[in-house]
Amino acid sequence: GSCGLIDLFGRYVRYLRLSVTDRCDLRCVYCMSEHMAFMPRRDLLSLEELNRLALAFIRRGVTKLRITGGEPLVRKDVMKLFAALGTELGAGRLRELTLTTNGTRLANFARELASYGVRRVNVSLDTLDPDRYRALTRGGALANVLEGIDAARSAGLAVKINAVALRGSTDAEIDGLIHFAHDREMTLTFIETMPLGDVGVDRVDQYFPLDRLRELIESRWSLSDLPLRTGGPARYVRVAETGGVIGFITPLTHNFCEDCNRVRITASGILHTCLGQEDAVDLRAVMRRSQDDADLMHTIDRAIRGKPRGHDFVIDRSGALPALSRHMSATGG
Ligand code: GTP
Ligand code: 5AD
Ligand code: SF4
Repeated sequence: GSCGLIDLFGRYVRYLRLSVTDRCDLRCVYCMSEHMAFMPRRDLLSLEELNRLALAFIRRGVTKLRITGGEPLVRKDVMKLFAALGTELGAGRLRELTLTTNGTRLANFARELASYGVRRVNVSLDTLDPDRYRALTRGGALANVLEGIDAARSAGLAVKINAVALRGSTDAEIDGLIHFAHDREMTLTFIETMPLGDVGVDRVDQYFPLDRLRELIESRWSLSDLPLRTGGPARYVRVAETGGVIGFITPLTHNFCEDCNRVRITASGILHTCLGQEDAVDLRAVMRRSQDDADLMHTIDRAIRGKPRGHDFVIDRSGALPALSRHMSATGG
């Protein structure tokens, strides 16, 4: 495909994160409020529309596609979308097809995903303690995720573990998560919690800066910086004792917007060219106006040119400002 998607700061957009639902079977305390209002089902793009959007971005030069949610595996018939997009991989138009999942249903789908050409998955897992998992996710069962991870590995998928760093809880998880991930040759990535959406608690009470987390890790483990960059926001280190890799995603303490290569689309077809800004372009409306893709392509090009320079999340003692009204579950990160 052509490299049509370049913004005013010279950044190429080759990575699309496509949300297939804003719903989820969990209610993580940093992601959702206890009683979430989800989008009306009639606002959801159909699987055909999701596929059409993905193909349009691939034609404009996107080579990496990540299916997100909410929880993507709760979307009915989502395997049909993976099957369709798998043919883009087969045809060499797409380099990578992947997903970010909470893992609860991965045991059911791992083999099928692998059969469509998915090579790796990112699984969200913040704790290895079943009680704490139930509390953090407001009701989830850790065993389901562990089963999902096993199934993914058995199906030959590489697994990356995402753990959101939370004050008062992550500290106790560090060593367990390192052992768990590295014993299974999985990269473990820690993420600073971002102030997206009202979750019913003060964000400052959740926030745990990764500089502090890294100090804690370094008091017990030997870390060396790796030059490795995946085109994602993570910075990586190797742990001498395990040989494994830890990633740090630090939107608040060190932002990485200058080489941002991605945009995301919500399950209702809203394009957000920055995770941390309110900019939004309604691609569903454009798609529904015409079966011809010309308008859609133009709209996408124009939107990419307007990609903001970066976000301006800041957290200080006085609170998280400016927080966004939209929840993480709307964009899948
Ligand atoms: P890899 O392809 O494995 O490098 O994954 P990834 O980091 O792109 O994706 P993943 O879905 O695992 O996201 C990890 C975390 O990074 C999530 O918390 C995302 O919300 C966050 N993240 C992803 N993209 C952005 C971004 O553009 N800006 C910010 N601030 N955070 C992001
Ligand atoms: N800040 C940072 N990461 C978050 N995630 C969900 N909500 C937030 C937040 N407010 C993470 C999930 C998942 C990834 C897509 O985003 O745990 O790993
Ligand atoms: Fe669901 Fe992921 Fe949000 Fe947790 S972080 S509620 S698993 S979408």
